[in-house]
Amino acid sequence: MTKTQVAIIGGGPAGLLLSHILHLHGIDSIVLERQTRAYVLGRIRAGVLEFGTVQLLRDVGLGARLDREGLVHAGTLMTWQGEGSALIDTVKYANRPMMAYGQTAITEDLYAARDRDGGRIVHEAVDVALHGLTSDHPFVTYTKDGSPQRIDCEFVAGCDGFHGVSRRSIPADVLRTYEQVYPFGWLGIMSETPPMKDLIYAHHERGFALASQRNPMLSRYYIQCEIETDPADWPDERFWDEFKARLPQELARTVVTGPSIEKSVAPLRSFVAEPMRHGRLFLAGDSAHIVPPTGAKGLNLAVSDVHYLARALEAHYRGGSDELLQSYSRTALQRVWGAERLSWWLTRLLHVFPQDSAFERKMRLNEFQYLQRSEHAMGSLSEQYAGLPF
Ligand code: APR
Ligand code: PHB
Repeated sequence: MTKTQVAIIGGGPAGLLLSHILHLHGIDSIVLERQTRAYVLGRIRAGVLEFGTVQLLRDVGLGARLDREGLVHAGTLMTWQGEGSALIDTVKYANRPMMAYGQTAITEDLYAARDRDGGRIVHEAVDVALHGLTSDHPFVTYTKDGSPQRIDCEFVAGCDGFHGVSRRSIPADVLRTYEQVYPFGWLGIMSETPPMKDLIYAHHERGFALASQRNPMLSRYYIQCEIETDPADWPDERFWDEFKARLPQELARTVVTGPSIEKSVAPLRSFVAEPMRHGRLFLAGDSAHIVPPTGAKGLNLAVSDVHYLARALEAHYRGGSDELLQSYSRTALQRVWGAERLSWWLTRLLHVFPQDSAFERKMRLNEFQYLQRSEHAMGSLSEQYAGLPF
């Protein structure tokens, strides 16, 4: 039997960051991850960080590589077929720049820090089950290399993503879920080519397109696609042609194309589970909520959840009050719903919805024109895109 203070389920960015910050406060944890480390590091996810996320990562000693390799930008360009563009200028309107730095890189940095500090991470932990969550003595069981294991702990952190076991361990009569699924997906590619000058969100009658960046020789591009799209039907040539067709010509000319090194389709979903706590189980990150990728809020939300949870556990172990643990769900959800609304709104604004009437298309166009003409409208969008303070 093994003991720890906090058993952390899931070794993605949420679980790893939590175990790192707890370690800085002298709190012991064990991370249980179902996959191998290579699998976790091979996943390609979003990569735009709010200033608050960057600041937090610096504060906990994870800023060195990020400050070397991250691409700072003042905002994101929105283009609209036949209507020109508008800049979501987060420096002008919110006094905060954004940074492109991939989730893969953050995960690598976190593994390096946990290895250096002797952090305990169990990979290929299967059949994880949570027990005694509403008692004072919760424990976690799992199987490793075919043999059953048990960890006794004081708290369980559910950082195991949307498909994990943690949220499903909360009784159905306690948990409320809210969900919206969108009638399209994103086909994304990674290519070892210099990125475009700006991050670009493009609306076009053929569908939404996005140009993003990872580092000076690594770019990420997406196009809105049908959910059933098979990436095999999209050779690179076809992808680049479609991507460029959705951009204004003068920008399309500046795209540097090259062979893709990854190509995949992602569905779009909005999802929130409430509350984010049940007894001694606390959910953080994708286990509690999913945002559609438009706006790149997913990772930033995982980081703010972890910030609130680490702060609450630190107060508990310092012998202070449990007030922050009591209010964790409420505090985290306030920020979660804000990001849900922004991601839902940007998704609606920028995509082509198969069911939309001509009236709805006019509303969407007018909304974009309003952003182009009104400092107030753009100020509001920029403030939310830059990320509301933790
Ligand atoms: N037992 C142990 N580990 C599990 C289990 C389980 N039953 N189920 C899932 N996991 C692991 C997954 O293999 C994954 O490594 O939990 C981890 C969850 O990581 P993420 O899905 O990356 O979620 P999170 O850490 O909350 O990070 C949120 O990921 O999806 C993006 O947009 C999202 O960028 C955001 C970030
Ligand atoms: C990405 O870089 O993968 C990315 C950027 C912006 C988004 C979504 C994804 O809105």
